[in-house]
Amino acid sequence: MNIPQHVAIILDGNGRWAKSKGMPRNYGHARGAKNLETICRDAYDIGIKYLTVYLFSTENWKRSKEEVDGLMTLFRSYTKTCIRTARENNMKVRVLGDPTALAPDLQASLRKLVDSSRDNTGLNFNIAINYGSRDEIVRAIRHLAQDCVDGAVKPEEITEEMFSGYLDTREIPDPDLLIRTSGELRLSNYLMWQLAYTEFYFTDVPWPAFKKEDLLKAIEKYNNRERRYGGVKEE
Ligand code: IPE
Ligand code: IPE
Ligand code: MG
Repeated sequence: MNIPQHVAIILDGNGRWAKSKGMPRNYGHARGAKNLETICRDAYDIGIKYLTVYLFSTENWKRSKEEVDGLMTLFRSYTKTCIRTARENNMKVRVLGDPTALAPDLQASLRKLVDSSRDNTGLNFNIAINYGSRDEIVRAIRHLAQDCVDGAVKPEEITEEMFSGYLDTREIPDPDLLIRTSGELRLSNYLMWQLAYTEFYFTDVPWPAFKKEDLLKAIEKYNNRERRYGGVKEE
């Protein structure tokens, strides 16, 4: 089987999954975070090199204070656990998104996670937290515009490749496969630049119930796709 090098996942459906069990939404988030640890190991066992997951969008601040507070508490403990699992599983962790809106202690933990795993050579694990594609592109443009003002870059020198280098995903290849769990058929502001030629897979399985076999099913479907990049296949 041809294993995609980079898989991106929109982890969706924690709330609905919890509700279906008569439990509060934050219980779904806790179980979703646990499942993420398992799927990280599974992804690496399968041979995936890059896994990029959407933990919290720039729009998710619109949720109730109770839910946002619960999520931030969960991210604190998740980040700490991840420092350990990154060491045990040789994962190199990167953070996508704008950390400045997060609490200072969470920002510090995330920095520690990135710094302590920098030299690891196993799975490249990217977590998108306070991430929005439009926000990422605007931040990149601001940075690039400043470089133009400073005279480091001339507008006519700007290329797609160079612009990619200003995004949070610099050094990370574009995803080959995007998975969204729990039935919604939209991007919700995820990696819009990077997904230009990615294959999409949608499943009704909610994130906390998404298992290795579901990941394998997605990869099997991906294997039946004929990837094209605007050209036609040679006969
Ligand atoms: C995904 O699950 C996790 C986050 C967005 C933080 P949801 O919380 O969106 O769960 P549903 O979609 O409401 O079921
Ligand atoms: C997308 O899921 C964001 C994350 C998974 C973190 P949402 O549940 O927030 O997306 P919408 O609101 O259904 O589009
Ligand atoms: Mg959702």
